[in-house]
Amino acid sequence: MQDTIRNSIAQNALTYSIETYGCQMNAHESEKIAGVLESLGFTIAEQPSSADVVIYNTCCIRQHAEAKLYSNIGALKEYKDANQNALIVVCGCMMQQQDAAKKLMERFPYVDIVFGTNAIHRLEDMLYKALDERVRVLNVSDDQTVVEGVPIKRSGLGSAYVNIIYGCNNYCSYCVVPYVRGRERSRKEEDIISEVQELCQKGAAEITLLGQNVNSYSDDTKNGSAFAKLLHRIDTQTDIKRLRFMTSHPKDMSDELIDCYGSINSLCEHVHLPVQSGSNAILHAMNRRYTREHYLNLLGRLKQRVPSLAVTTDIIVGFPGESEEDFAQTLSLVEEAQFDAAYTFAYSPRAMTKAASLPDQISKEVKSERLERLNALVKQIMQSRNSAYLGRTVQVLIDGTSRRSSNEVQGRTREAKTVNMSGCKDDIGKLIDVKIDKVMTHTLRGERV
Ligand code: 5AD
Ligand code: SF4
Repeated sequence: MQDTIRNSIAQNALTYSIETYGCQMNAHESEKIAGVLESLGFTIAEQPSSADVVIYNTCCIRQHAEAKLYSNIGALKEYKDANQNALIVVCGCMMQQQDAAKKLMERFPYVDIVFGTNAIHRLEDMLYKALDERVRVLNVSDDQTVVEGVPIKRSGLGSAYVNIIYGCNNYCSYCVVPYVRGRERSRKEEDIISEVQELCQKGAAEITLLGQNVNSYSDDTKNGSAFAKLLHRIDTQTDIKRLRFMTSHPKDMSDELIDCYGSINSLCEHVHLPVQSGSNAILHAMNRRYTREHYLNLLGRLKQRVPSLAVTTDIIVGFPGESEEDFAQTLSLVEEAQFDAAYTFAYSPRAMTKAASLPDQISKEVKSERLERLNALVKQIMQSRNSAYLGRTVQVLIDGTSRRSSNEVQGRTREAKTVNMSGCKDDIGKLIDVKIDKVMTHTLRGERV
C-alpha cells in the first residue's frame, strides 16, 4: 500500500508548502517536516498558494498567534473547496496543546491532519492515512522520547541548526513552553557530534546548537559542565568553523561556559542571553532566579574575556504588577548592558501559566507605550554599537541573496551582525572578508576586500 502511495506522489508530482511561525526551534522542525515530505517524493511548491499539501507550523508563545492562525485557516476554505484532493495540515507548539488541537479540528472540518511537536516522526503514517483512507488524523502524543534519524531538509547551505536539548524545566511564570514542550531531554553527545561531522562534510561552515535552555544540556554524567564539554568536543572533533547556540538562561551560565569564550576558536563572539526585565522585583515574580546585578556581572565577565562580544537579549514589558519604576529599571539595564539587539515583547497572558492569574495586569495602552519607549532606546544603542564597525574588515558567512536584487547577497558576521554586499547566488555558504562602509540600525553594508 505504501509503495502505491509513494508512486502516486511521484507520478502526480505532488507539492507542499510550509508556513512557519515562532522561534528557531519551530524553523528547524519545519526543516524536519520538509525532510520527511521530500523523502516520500513530494517537492516544494513554487507557489505556496497552489500546493497539494499546505502546512502551518504554529507557535503559542503569545496570544495573538491564535487569532492569526484562525484567520489564515479560515481563508483556506475556498482553496479546499476548489481542490478537494489537497491536504491541509496544522502542527507545531499550539497543536501540542490538546484543547487547541481539538478546537481547531472542530472549527475547521476541512483541516485533514493536526499533530503536535512530539509526532513529527509519525508524519509519514499520518500522510498515508489521510491520502489513502481519506480520514482526518489527529496526533497530539505525550510521548517525549528523543527520536533520532528523522530526515532534515536544510534551508541553508552554510549555516545549520542542530538540536541538543528538547523541552524546558524552568517554569518562568509567564511562559507556556514547559507545558507544551514538556520536560528537558538531551540528545546523546555521540548523535550530536555525528550530525555536526556529517554537516561539515556537506559544506556547512556554521552550526547553531538549539534548545529552550541549552546550558541545561546534560550528558550521562549529569554534571553541570556538560554543555561546556560539548562545545569543546564539537570544536576539536569536527571541522566546523563557526559555533553558536541559543537560547541560554542567565541562571545557568556556568564558569566553564564563560571560559569557553576566547578559548574555543570556533565559538562566535555573540551570546543571546534573555534578561526579560531589569527590575529585581519583576525578575522574582517571573521566577527567573537571578538578579539584575547577577546578569550585569555575567556580561562584565563575558566581555572581559571577549571585548568585542555582541550581546542580544529578549525583554518583556508590562508583566503583571510592573510599575513605572520597575520599567525604568529595565531601561537603565538596557543602557548599562549596551545590547547589540533586543527582541522586545508586550506581556501576553497564557493559559496554564502562573502569571496569567496574577493581580495587577497592565493595560494594553501602558504596555504599548512602554514597548515604544524601550524600542526607541534599543534602536539608539544598536545604531551606536553598529557605528563601531565603520571601516572595519569583518568575516561574513553569506547565507542568501537579497529579496530586492539578485546581484545583492546577505550574510552574518561572527558577532551575528547582518551585512549586505554585492554578490551572487554562488557566494552562498562562503566565508568572505568584507570592509564595512555604511552602518544602519539593523544592518551593515560593505564591499569584499
Ligand atoms: N508574553 C510575552 N513574551 C513572552 N515570551 C515568552 N512568553 C511570553 C509571554 N507570555 C518571550 C520571552 C522569551 C521569548 C522567546 O518570548 O522574552 O524569551
Ligand atoms: Fe520559557 Fe523560561 Fe523555559 Fe525559556 S527558560 S522556555 S522563557 S520557561
